[in-house]
Amino acid sequence: MSSSVPAFVSPDEMEVLFSAEQIAQRVAALGEEISHEYAGKSVVLIGVLKGAAIFLADLARAIKVDNTFDFVAVSSYGRARVSSGAVKLIKDIDNPIEGRHVIIVEDILDTGLTLSYLRGLMLQHKPASLKIATCLDKPERRLVPIEADYSCFKIPNRFVIGYGMDYAERYRGIPEIRLYPENPPGH
Ligand code: IMP
Ligand code: MG
Repeated sequence: MSSSVPAFVSPDEMEVLFSAEQIAQRVAALGEEISHEYAGKSVVLIGVLKGAAIFLADLARAIKVDNTFDFVAVSSYGRARVSSGAVKLIKDIDNPIEGRHVIIVEDILDTGLTLSYLRGLMLQHKPASLKIATCLDKPERRLVPIEADYSCFKIPNRFVIGYGMDYAERYRGIPEIRLYPENPPGH
């Protein structure tokens, strides 16, 4: 963990990529799709802390079928993580998911390292089914082959903040998704 804090850039200076309204529309559409596909079933949403917390909160309210949610947290090694591919679980699920219909909920599918690690881990629990929902997908950045079953938006290789997503822990509470002026090291 680095102790150097980057200078604050005001979010007002950053271009809006998706407005709160655009996000809400896509989340509602995903909620409908999921409600349709899981009709008559119960779903367990597993959010990846912290980035997915806001997307999960909205998605859970857009899903009309019986659902519960849980959270996991994974460590991030920044650039080292990308070169080594090592992802570590910091917080596990609270409740068993064996025989359950599970959807992992993530903020961004980027290199794919986090989600392929989590998918492997969750499959060990023998869920009845396992799918992936991500708010954003950056297909250009993929290092391992993995696709989302549900995604709000596909974006190019640009670093974004807001709607749960951070740069150095900042900006998670910004209601829209904005383009950070430059891609940070490792992105
Ligand atoms: P990966 O798919 O394992 O590379 O990891 C995806 C994670 O990297 C996401 O959950 C985010 O936490 C982080 N991330 C990737 N791209 C961005 C971005 O543009 N803004 C903020 N976080 C990002
Ligand atoms: Mg994340």
